[in-house]
Order: sequence, then C-alpha cells, then structure tokens
Amino acid sequence: MKHLLKMLDLSKEEIIEILDLADQLKYELKHGIPHPHLQGKTLGMIFQKASTRTRVSFETGMYQLGGQPLFLSAHDLQIGRGEPVQDTARVLSRYIDGIMIRTFAQKEVEDLAEYGNIPIINGLTDFCHPCQILADLMTIREFKSTFDGLKVCYIGDGNNMANSLIVGCLKVGMAFSIACPDDYQPDAEVLDFAKDYDCFQMVNDPMEAAKNADVVITDVWASMGQEEEAEKRRIAFNGYQINDDVMAVAKNDAMVLHCLPAHREEEITAKVFEEHANEIFEEAENRLHAQKAVMVKLMK
Ligand code: CP
Ligand code: NVA
Repeated sequence: MKHLLKMLDLSKEEIIEILDLADQLKYELKHGIPHPHLQGKTLGMIFQKASTRTRVSFETGMYQLGGQPLFLSAHDLQIGRGEPVQDTARVLSRYIDGIMIRTFAQKEVEDLAEYGNIPIINGLTDFCHPCQILADLMTIREFKSTFDGLKVCYIGDGNNMANSLIVGCLKVGMAFSIACPDDYQPDAEVLDFAKDYDCFQMVNDPMEAAKNADVVITDVWASMGQEEEAEKRRIAFNGYQINDDVMAVAKNDAMVLHCLPAHREEEITAKVFEEHANEIFEEAENRLHAQKAVMVKLMK
C-alpha cells in the first residue's frame, strides 16, 4: 500500500490491518503509552474545502505520532492561482514525507500520487471519503465486535460517502442496502464493483433498505460544492430521512452513524441523532485513530 486514494484500491486484508493498528493506537493513547512512529516526518495537508474533523484529527494525530503537520490552505498555495498539481506534487515531494489532500476532483488526488514520490492520502473528494469509511468500519467493529452477518443500510444521496461505504462494507463482508432517488445514485464505477455481490441491494424506498439493518447511515443532502442545488435537493430527498419509522424496521439494537456535519430534521431527526449520539461521536473520534494507522502504514 503506497497511497490511500480510494477504498476500491484496498484489499480486505489491508483494511483489516489498518483497523487492527487503529485499535492498538487507540488503546495506547488511552493508556498513556507513547507511539512516536513518525518522529522527524512532516505531513502536508492541502484543503480546497472546509473541514473540522479531518483537519483537527490529522493535525493532532501527526503530533501524537511525533511528527509535524503542515496546514496548507489552497487559498495561500500557488495551486489556488493555477500552478498545476503535477508541479506541486514534484516540489512538495522534496520537502515533506506525505500529503493529505481534500479537494473536488478525484483526478487531482490521483495526479498528485502519479507525479509525486511520497504517500498521498485522500481526505475527501467529490468521489470518495476513504478516511471516514475506515473510521466507520472501526466504529462498527467496536460496537458490534464483528462484521460477519451484519447488514448496513445507507439512506440518501449516492455521494462520496455512499461510494466509499458501499466498497468498504462489501469488502469486509457485510451486506449493504442503499435507498436513494433514481437521479442520485452512487458512481457507476462503484455500482459496477457492487454488482458482483449478492448481498448488495439498491432501492428507492428507505423502509425497504432499512429492514433488519444492524447499522443505519446517512449523510447530508447537499455536499460541499453543491450549495446552489440545496433547494432542489431538499425536494428530491424529501422522505430520505433517518427517523423513528425507519428505526422501527431496523434491528432493535441497530446503531446509527453520520460522518458529520449533520442537518437535523433533513437527513436525520434530532431525536434519532441524540439517541445515537454516543455512536456518532465515537465515530468522529475514531477518525483520529484510523488516520494515525493510515499514516503509520504509509509513512513509517
Ligand atoms: N466528516 C468529515 O470529514 O468532517 P469534516 O468535513 O469536518 O472534516
Ligand atoms: N458528503 C459530504 C461529506 C462531508 C464530510 C460532503 O462532501 O460535503
């Protein structure tokens, strides 16, 4: 494993190795056991979009690993004035030991990996959000002890979260059911991957998708960069909400995850959100541990 560009690139074994290391690093952190695996290393973090969790968890994680994080806002870099990503990659490769990038086009992340010679970590693109899905898988395994026999249900936009969840959950052996409107289906490449799995289901009806689910997940109706479509999307996604009715058809002990930020009373009711806040905020915490594992795997 040289980069973390998308879940499609990872094998089941690589995913499990990252999750095992993440569990170990979480244990060590909670017990005050130092783990300075990246002493003397620097991670550059390029942000073309806003972030709370990704920025703070990478920055803190790098510090806890003994390395140095470098926040690089696209507004300040020459990349924001049109310097090609191919050149940025070759320059930064000579200064630092790894790059985490959050941007719009997946191609930009793939280009960084192709032209640079240091590990590239995808901190979210319009196509996928692999760091989030590793944290989600870690959280599911933490609460449910296993992936075997579990059914994950995702309700809402077939966006970056849906694309990565489908691949990650199917790869580790869980069944996956998605309910989305016809015009907002996941990426064709992801559907092509999923078509070989009998335990993958795509439907329009959230109640059908949520039936007997062990994990119920949603995400915002309008992602970063889609702000102008917000009103149109509010209409299209009417009914694609995690609420008491949906939870009533899921398993009694079903957990709820949300990558955050959440829009209460849109994709999830405030009531369901608060009833499952312990799972959702553990998921947010696990970003830190999962990403530390990714950095150690790629940069040590
Ligand atoms: N879930 C997530 O990636 O959060 P941020 O946008 O705050 O980084
Ligand atoms: N789908 C959301 C996820 C945010 C973490 C977005 O891209 O804005």
